Amino acid sequence: MPRSHSRKTRTPGHVGASVLVPKVTPKRFYGQGIPGVDSDSLTGKLIVVEGADGSGRSTQIARLVQWLEATGHHTIQVGLKRSTLVSEELEQAQQGNILSRTTLSLFYATDFADQLENTILPALRAGSMVIADRYIYTLMVRDLVRGVDETWIRNLYGIALAPDAVFYLEVRPDLLVQRVFAKNQSLDYWESGMDLGLSRDMFDSFLRYQALMRDTFRRLQQTYGFDIIDAERTPDEINHELQRRIEAVLSGRD
Ligand SMILES: Nc1ncnc2c1ncn2[C@@H]1O[C@H](COP(=O)(O)OP(=O)(O)OP(=O)(O)O)[C@@H](O)[C@H]1O
Ligand SMILES: [Mg+2]
Repeated sequence: MPRSHSRKTRTPGHVGASVLVPKVTPKRFYGQGIPGVDSDSLTGKLIVVEGADGSGRSTQIARLVQWLEATGHHTIQVGLKRSTLVSEELEQAQQGNILSRTTLSLFYATDFADQLENTILPALRAGSMVIADRYIYTLMVRDLVRGVDETWIRNLYGIALAPDAVFYLEVRPDLLVQRVFAKNQSLDYWESGMDLGLSRDMFDSFLRYQALMRDTFRRLQQTYGFDIIDAERTPDEINHELQRRIEAVLSGRD
């Protein structure tokens, strides 16, 4: 198995920049995975950034991509509802609020499976870094707070590849609400959990729903072991911590 080492690249007139070649570590699927995929061929790294709406995922990912590319790592980005196969239909289904809980879950799972098979796995096979703006955990947590059976959900996402690192950006709900308002001047029906009937007041519903989501994330953390990041700090402080942790992943120390 290749070992991590620094490759010195020299161009005339420049002092050599050091590129950390990621150490290849074994990958695994959570369950049965996707048939016919040889996980040993996946030499890239899958890094997931999780967190509520307004927790700062886009802010952090933009900086991480810039940093990774500048340090010589080809990087691609994926996220929920971005598959070409079903993203439009999923959006329409959400707007109309017409699908049952199970059908909506399967719709999201289809979107995920399409991206896994057609974007994430090929990129990892090519040795690229894949940065995911949310992954199966958000989907699982959304379903769990709506009473979907946990075993059923775990089986459904048995197709997923276990990432090399998962960072959950944690921000308390009252701070989240401020960030979301500052960015969008409004709250989103689904991200406020209005379908759950927690409160008729959207602001109140948002606070309750996001607290439920956070508690469920913390519970899943015990099974999936992701890193909980204090995302109430400045963007610079958070980014510094993420870079440090990703460096550890690249060098196989994590
Ligand atoms: N660490 C931070 N401290 C204060 N404000 C922040 C921080 N990080 C991001 N913000 C601000 O909070 C808002 C939401 O940030 P961002 O868009 O990065 O979050 P997001 O998690 O990607 O949200 P969405 O779910 O809408 O995609 C933006 O206005 C951003 O400038
Ligand atoms: Mg975003």
